[in-house]
Amino acid sequence: MEQMLTNYRPVSYSQITLTELMVPAYANFGGKIHGGILLSLMDKVAYACAHKHAGNYCVTVSVNRVEFLEPVEVGEMVSMLASVNYVGRTSMVVGIKVIAENFKTNTVKHTNSSYFTMVAKDEEGQPTPVPGLILENAIQARRFLKTLKLKELRDRLKNDLEAAEANLDLEAHREWFVRERCQLRLA
Ligand SMILES: CC(C)(COP(=O)(O)OP(=O)(O)OC[C@H]1O[C@@H](n2cnc3c(N)ncnc32)[C@H](O)[C@@H]1OP(=O)(O)O)[C@@H](O)C(=O)NCCC(=O)NCCS
Repeated sequence: MEQMLTNYRPVSYSQITLTELMVPAYANFGGKIHGGILLSLMDKVAYACAHKHAGNYCVTVSVNRVEFLEPVEVGEMVSMLASVNYVGRTSMVVGIKVIAENFKTNTVKHTNSSYFTMVAKDEEGQPTPVPGLILENAIQARRFLKTLKLKELRDRLKNDLEAAEANLDLEAHREWFVRERCQLRLA
């Protein structure tokens, strides 16, 4: 029984928020914060959250859906709220909600939510099992279910894409190019 309990950790155990002020050095030529800066912060918070749950070093394996819905301005305080949404055997899906607070206008905007798949590694660099997840409320249980459904959809999409890639005959798809804003000038 003790072994079972120590092999599970509640979601709340590893929930982490990373907050950082957006300084001018982070801005692009348009004066907004670089997407790469936000991605880097997301990767850091995903790592910290996964590392705490797993108790082992972790690597980022994939990132699902990064869409910046609103620009982030210099001077805003960005917070990344990270939570383990799902665990497999050696992998974890960390959900990250990004919000930006503007103290001048007294507004808070939700700029994006993304899902990082992280894998725990042992001392030899091999994937190693992570503790199971204790879901303590309906929100956590729904996030777990949503991740399972997303995994199912992703597997289906991967198969469909592979089948489509195997059938990219240019002649058979000439009409597709005509519909798009491109010119075929094959040598
Ligand atoms: C990801 C990695 C650990 C997979 O190694 P592997 O020997 O193929 O291991 P496995 O097949 O046992 O997969 C390990 C886990 O990763 C998951 N996984 C592998 N590829 C994946 C992908 N493309 N997307 C999501 N999960 C993936 C597997 O489902 C498995 O999860 P589970 O144990 O919970 O079921 C290995 O490819 C790796 O180390 N990649 C480099 C990661 C890295 O350096 N990241 C930093 C990038 S800058």
